[in-house]
Amino acid sequence: MKPLQIGSLKLKSPLVLAPMVDVTDLPYRLLCCRAGAALAFTEMIYVDALLHENKKTLNMVKTCKEDSPLGLQITGDRLEEFERFVSRKELWKKFDLIDLNCGCPSDRIVGNQAGSFLLKEPEKIASIIKILKLTKKPITVKVRLGFDKNNVLEVARIVEKAGADALTVHCRLVKDGNDKKANWSWLGRVKKVVSIPIIGNGDVFNGAGARAVLDLCDGVMVGRGAIGNPLVFTRILNYLEKGKEEDFDVEKNLEIFKEYLKLEKKYYGENVDLGKVKYVGGKFLKGFKGVARLRGEFHKLKTIEEIEGFARGLQKKI
Ligand SMILES: Cc1cc2nc3c(=O)[nH]c(=O)nc-3n(C[C@H](O)[C@H](O)[C@H](O)COP(=O)(O)O)c2cc1C
Repeated sequence: MKPLQIGSLKLKSPLVLAPMVDVTDLPYRLLCCRAGAALAFTEMIYVDALLHENKKTLNMVKTCKEDSPLGLQITGDRLEEFERFVSRKELWKKFDLIDLNCGCPSDRIVGNQAGSFLLKEPEKIASIIKILKLTKKPITVKVRLGFDKNNVLEVARIVEKAGADALTVHCRLVKDGNDKKANWSWLGRVKKVVSIPIIGNGDVFNGAGARAVLDLCDGVMVGRGAIGNPLVFTRILNYLEKGKEEDFDVEKNLEIFKEYLKLEKKYYGENVDLGKVKYVGGKFLKGFKGVARLRGEFHKLKTIEEIEGFARGLQKKI
């Protein structure tokens, strides 16, 4: 297994946790990195929101010593805002790299001509990279294969020429949403046209998937496969070493769920976002008997303490 290097940043393995809004907060990143992810990102943050730092944004950029290496993921549409961001060192100095999101399909973000809309204007992506390079941090870009038509080879060439240090390719078009199967074959084609590291993303849920992606490019990024399942990184690492798929372990996963709740309380206290904890927590119920009924009960809970009590009670249901 070859480790991944992004600019000056050397990672201990090629496994990366995907940035995910309402999932990859500080506690979640810690759990996934303890399980074996070598790099994590913040949730995507609009550059404009960073400039105006409200309480929600401050929670999103909360970090700690153990939470490293960490990438800040941003998006936006106006070059002046990226310039203002770069001029305020306190906004980016604590991160190990900065990633530009050019893949978010949400109507609100696309309507603001940010996220995946940028794939329609590759030269604008280049201008943003050049501005971000002024921080002297490693700069990465996360793209889909294209907006409604595939232009990933053109975008990859432009991104490299502008000075980016790595490119993550989520192997679907924006119009595909998340339904169509990710087409990993594009990773090999992108590798042929650029020499910066390529991180492959989309539909990796186990060791065999990670192996297939790493046979085509330099790194593998896992998103949905890690929700309610941080130990997917441990299983992937073991597969990469031994070539054998390990079973999902409900009991070990329950311990991680309890740790997740503890960390949410530790880092967010009264400001804990219960909606988020319930979304992520619901995913931890995978593998328990009568999971549909359990999820129904779980979603009625009203406080983090009630959720903790529920998690303790799950021990009897293994
Ligand atoms: C709940 C959720 C939130 C997401 N938020 C982000 C985000 O903030 N930034 C981003 O680049 N991609 C985001 N994505 C996309 C993932 O990073 C990833 O590209 C996508 O899920 C495909 O990978 P997967 O098949 O491993 O899930 C999100 C996906 C999900 C499911």
